[in-house]
Amino acid sequence: MKKAVPNDLSVGEMAARAGVAVSTLHYYEAEGLIESWRTPANHRRYDRRELRRVAIIRIAQTLGIPLAQVRPVLDKIPRGRTVKAAEWAAASEVWAEELDDRIEMLLRLRQTLGHCIGCGCLSVDNCPLYNAGDAMGDNGPGPRRWTGAAEERADPP
Ligand code: FES
Repeated sequence: MKKAVPNDLSVGEMAARAGVAVSTLHYYEAEGLIESWRTPANHRRYDRRELRRVAIIRIAQTLGIPLAQVRPVLDKIPRGRTVKAAEWAAASEVWAEELDDRIEMLLRLRQTLGHCIGCGCLSVDNCPLYNAGDAMGDNGPGPRRWTGAAEERADPP
């Protein structure tokens, strides 16, 4: 027999199901990212649909996406009713370009980690070949083969 699942959660239930601390929920709420309501006894309750908002925030944090960029996604998700697939698709479009950039960077990281990344350290045996005399440093800071122009990012042999 299927277990009945309540549609609203206490703060402790919400924290346990979301996998975050109660203080984290309070912070998200103070930032306007999630909402709760109060019972006549002044107990905080959450609509369980807020779990999805917390999950999105947590995923974004895992990906290094700052909260400022999470808000526009959450703002596109209606509250108080079931969210339609098209609404989720529209919300996810906010991150599409950002995620594409991150995927490209991670692929580049995987391909080049064992090679010179153009960071200026000159500590890998092929640095003299790809970054002789730290020439890439003339084009800007950081690991140029990850963050520089396309010609600097060309795949290593
Ligand atoms: S790995 Fe740092 S300059 Fe080559």
